[in-house]
Amino acid sequence: MTSPREAASAYDLIVVGSGIAGLYAALQAREAGASVLVVTKGGMGEASTRYAQGGIAAAVGPDDSPEEHLRDTIEAGAGLVDEEAARILCFEAADRVADLVRYGVHFDSSNGEVSLGREAAHSRSRILHARGDATGLEIELSLSTLARREVTILEHTLANRIVVEDGRVTGVQVFATVEGVHRTFRAPTVIIATGGAGQVYRTTTNPPVSTGDGVALAYECGAEVMDMEFTQFHPTALVLPGRPVFLISEAVRGEGALLYNTAGERFMPGYDPERAELAPRDVVARATLREMLETGSDHVLLDVTSHEAGWLAARFPQIYERCLESGLDMARDRIPVSPAAHYTMGGVRTNTWGETTVRGLFTVGEVACTGVHGANRLASNSLLETVVFAHRAVERLLRTPTPVPPPPAPTEAPQVLSAPVPNEDVPDAAVVKALMWRDVGIVRTGEGLAAAAATLRHWAASLPAPTDRDGYELRSILTCARLATEAALMREESRGAHYRTDHPEPREAWRRHIVFRKNVRQPSTEGATEGSPA
Ligand code: FAD
Ligand code: SIN
Repeated sequence: MTSPREAASAYDLIVVGSGIAGLYAALQAREAGASVLVVTKGGMGEASTRYAQGGIAAAVGPDDSPEEHLRDTIEAGAGLVDEEAARILCFEAADRVADLVRYGVHFDSSNGEVSLGREAAHSRSRILHARGDATGLEIELSLSTLARREVTILEHTLANRIVVEDGRVTGVQVFATVEGVHRTFRAPTVIIATGGAGQVYRTTTNPPVSTGDGVALAYECGAEVMDMEFTQFHPTALVLPGRPVFLISEAVRGEGALLYNTAGERFMPGYDPERAELAPRDVVARATLREMLETGSDHVLLDVTSHEAGWLAARFPQIYERCLESGLDMARDRIPVSPAAHYTMGGVRTNTWGETTVRGLFTVGEVACTGVHGANRLASNSLLETVVFAHRAVERLLRTPTPVPPPPAPTEAPQVLSAPVPNEDVPDAAVVKALMWRDVGIVRTGEGLAAAAATLRHWAASLPAPTDRDGYELRSILTCARLATEAALMREESRGAHYRTDHPEPREAWRRHIVFRKNVRQPSTEGATEGSPA
């Protein structure tokens, strides 16, 4: 790793984040001859990407087509998918998968043909996977090996402010978490690729780095943020005391696993007779929660005992191993599972070139809201979205003469977060997460949302100025929590992953997006050199 002192102070492009989106964008820009700096908050591999299991969706099978992939994506998104963006996603998929292969990613194959898995709400088997159930690890290792050779990388370097002067981006202020100093790097373009905000919730499949920093950074510098009320909860996480939450991939249900409640009844056909265990994630997550409540249990059971141990160990090596470590033999035992926050559908609003509404600022990957997922993401479309839109962002920022075209017009007047109201409560990350899990989780009520919004307003007013990584992360968690809660309170309907008992049906009037934008006056950049306070 380069040290902050060795790094130059100006680049053509600064990329924030070293998951698939950031590394792929950095490699593409480097190939085009740009000087690139990647800053990342932890070590290189600390990203959701390395935990991705099921794989990456692409219509490459002989019985499949991008049109069918597009139909499934639109259907899952519950009326809010941006069709133009989703068409780009599905039609550019095969080329971007080819890029990954060129960058050294080996996808699993059998008899010379790529192996394709099945996941919920896909009408075809179209999920390319690697190392069985360790697709993300294979991608992260391949891209980081190349990136270490090709670009300057600063690890343990947290971006804490996007610098904007005269209405356009000029750099990034960072906090070197080991040295405890601030420094500013300059570039005419910045790509934020900081991943999702699963850590806003008590129980999540996301790693500790997923605290929504990119959404908060972009919001603070005046970019628009959209769809934050839509968080995807994965129905099948292994949640054991004292151990990190571990995902049991949907691909396990794709291979025939069935869900039972603790009374021994298979329940999914009662909720969705046609698709049962392969119904969309929001349907399975809500059904799972209801069965847990009705049986008074903290889990339901996933049964994949129809397969033999040898087959399971080969197809799902990570999951098989983790279950064994937890005393569970997948070939004999039913696995206890429960829902966990998994994916942030909302994020920084971009057009189909990754541009935000702030000039020179791009976002790609889970932090971005391109509109391809609508109210509910189709499984394995996330890894795909990162590369499709990172490719387009790099095309735009390197090959379009400056100044870049004006940002896209907002769909409707953006909202502003309610003003913080001071009281004496000082927020604590664990308490914020517990509140979000209880009141802004899988099933919501108007009353719970209103109370949560009021509490978060108090906490926002009494947040101490950050002085370390925990402090910056708490600030991001709180901003994302407020955006999600206030949007969920406004959306008086149920749609996709957003479900309210007081408005249990979708409403045509709400087939629209909620967008937030802060009224910002850019602070002076003076003093933003090494060692200065944030
Ligand atoms: P990430 O991979 O999360 O990378 C974000 C990077 O930004 C990290 O390096 C982080 O340290 C850095 N960062 C964050 N904040 C800052 C800051 N302030 N300053 C500097 N750096 C910062 N999707 C699929 O399509 N298929 C799957 O099979 C699949 N399985 C999944 C399984 C699990 C357990 C999880 C958690 C997710 C899964 N997903 C899957 C979702 C998918 O993995 C993610 O959406 C995707 O990897 C996001 O990539 P990214 O590059 O946008 O973000
Ligand atoms: C999984 O393997 O179940 C996760 C897939 C995804 O989140 O797309």
